[in-house]
Amino acid sequence: MCNDNIHLLPKTRLLNEIWTIQRLLNWITEYFTKKGVDSPRLSAELLLCDVLKLERIQLYTFFDRIVQKPQLDALRALVQRAGEHEPVAYLVGRCEFYSLSLAITRDCLIPRPETELLVEQAIHFLRTRSGPQAVLDLCTGSGCIAAAVAKNVPDARVTATDVCEAALSVAAKNIQTHGLSERVQLLCGDLFDPVIKGLDALAFDLIVSNPPYVSETEYAQLEKNVKDYEPKHALLAGTDGLDVFRRITAQVDEFLKPDGALMLEIGYTQGKAVCELLEQAGLFKDIHLKKDLAGHDRVAIALR
Ligand SMILES: C[S@@+](CC[C@H](N)C(=O)[O-])C[C@H]1O[C@@H](n2cnc3c(N)ncnc32)[C@H](O)[C@@H]1O
Repeated sequence: MCNDNIHLLPKTRLLNEIWTIQRLLNWITEYFTKKGVDSPRLSAELLLCDVLKLERIQLYTFFDRIVQKPQLDALRALVQRAGEHEPVAYLVGRCEFYSLSLAITRDCLIPRPETELLVEQAIHFLRTRSGPQAVLDLCTGSGCIAAAVAKNVPDARVTATDVCEAALSVAAKNIQTHGLSERVQLLCGDLFDPVIKGLDALAFDLIVSNPPYVSETEYAQLEKNVKDYEPKHALLAGTDGLDVFRRITAQVDEFLKPDGALMLEIGYTQGKAVCELLEQAGLFKDIHLKKDLAGHDRVAIALR
């Protein structure tokens, strides 16, 4: 049944044969496995859901449903692109993050599961405090961190900045979809620049960021699905990947409350270097790292 050539097989077979959801799922999963696509079954499910306008669970409820030609044609085009390592999140324009469904375009980084650790730590910190909490999310991209924090901490008001206007349009859509426009403010500009210095001096209980942190050497070695599709300015941060961390730690003093916290997502080799930068800032009484599910250093936490 499986042929490595997506151009030939689906065209001839899809036109002449009956394809149920189950057959398609199995065929596409096998095709993606051969092509080395990440999470082949999940990717197949997401594409089928997008074309058939179904939830994932419904694929299994309607396993024997016959898929019609217009939908097969649409599916074939998407399967071909995914087989060439175009990320499925960009193909379907959506992704899941911290149990929120978010819109995604190629203007923003696809939110990663590792970033959920940063959100978890942010929520935990905010819940230990009482009263309204002011949060600053630097480099917000799709707004995933801002949305997840605001959704889970009703007392939080979030200011989120990004240099990329197109990414902020996506963030605005996500903030609106989740009913958070009253509590999340999006500002365009370089790191802290759009935050007003005098007005917002020592304003924030928590500053979070998942900034660009890939070094030039790492960037050259990134997988095709990342390097060819995700925005370079969302990933690359100078020769050693630490440029944005240096700039954040140099400016954070002006904006963080005396009992506030700074939380940064980091590359798994950057723990020592980022801790040193935080120590050099001379502002924090407690600096420590949290590991992700793979056991890698992933989040640096600095408490004032
Ligand atoms: C690694 S992505 C993170 C996006 C999102 N926070 C997430 O966790 O998926 C970094 C983001 O930083 C933005 N960015 C890069 N340089 C910036 C700067 N100097 N000031 C503000 N945002 C910046 C990029 O446009 C991109 O959206």
